[in-house]
Amino acid sequence: MTQPTDIRRALSHRPRLLDLFSCAGGAAMGYHRAGFEVTGVDIVDRPNYPFTFHQGDALQYLAALITSGEIGRFAGVHASPPCQAGCALTVGTNASQGWGGTHEDLVAPTRELLDRTGLPYVIEQPNGRARIRKDLSLCGEMFGLGVLRHRNFELGRWTIDRPAHPKHRGYVRGYRHGIYRDGPYVAAYGSGGGKATISEMQQAMGITWTDVREELTEAIPPAFSEYIGRALLTAVRPVEVAA
Ligand SMILES: C[S@@+](CC[C@H](N)C(=O)[O-])C[C@H]1O[C@@H](n2cnc3c(N)ncnc32)[C@H](O)[C@@H]1O
Repeated sequence: MTQPTDIRRALSHRPRLLDLFSCAGGAAMGYHRAGFEVTGVDIVDRPNYPFTFHQGDALQYLAALITSGEIGRFAGVHASPPCQAGCALTVGTNASQGWGGTHEDLVAPTRELLDRTGLPYVIEQPNGRARIRKDLSLCGEMFGLGVLRHRNFELGRWTIDRPAHPKHRGYVRGYRHGIYRDGPYVAAYGSGGGKATISEMQQAMGITWTDVREELTEAIPPAFSEYIGRALLTAVRPVEVAA
C-alpha cells in the first residue's frame, strides 16, 4: 500500500513548474497531472488555487527569481498574460488604473524575461491579437470536452507535435444574432445569451475546485495543459538529471 511518506517523496521528485498569471489554476491542474510540482503567481488573491500560491505581480516575481538565481529551482514556466481589458494590470506601471483599466500588452515583457531564464516555456497567447505566435493550437474537441475553447500557445526553447484539428461535432449552444442553436459545446465565456451556467462550465472543462464564474471563464481546460505538460516533461528531464 502507498504510504503518505512515499507520496511526499514522489512529489518532491517532481520537476517544478512556475505558473505565471495563474488565476485559479486551470492550466496548473493539467501540469500537475502531467507530473509537475506547480507554483502559481497571480496579482489577485486566488484562494481556490489548488497548489502553492503567491499573490503579486507576475513579472516582478519572475524578475526577482532571475536576479536571485532561484529560477534555477524550476524546470519550466507557463505564462497566461491577461487577454481582456477587464483583467488586473501590472503593479507599478498601471496600479492607478486597477481593474477595468486600459489593457496593456504583457506578452512582450513576459517573453523578454522568460528568454532570460534559459528554461523551456509556454506562453498562452491572448485571444483576438492579429500577430501572435501559434506554435501550438488546441481545441476542446481534441480531448472530447464539452467546450471548444480554441487556444494558441507560443513555445520557447522547445517544440511539440501539433495535433490535427478534428471536425467539430456541432454548434456551441446559445443565442447568436437572436437565433438559438443547440449543440454539444457550451459557451464558457461572458454571461447571458444562453451562455453556460457555472456547473455546465465546470463539467465541460473538468474544473471542479472553483465555482467563481470569472475564474472559470478565464481557465485553460486542464486537458490542454496536461497534453502540453506531458510533452514538456521530455524537454525538461535532461535539466533535472543534470541538477
Ligand atoms: C487568462 S487568466 C489566466 C488563466 C489561467 N492560466 C488558468 O488556466 O486558469 C489571467 C490572469 O492574470 C492575472 N493577472 C493580470 N495581471 C497580472 C499581473 N500583472 N501579475 C500577475 N497576475 C496578473 C489575472 O488576475 C488573471 O487571473
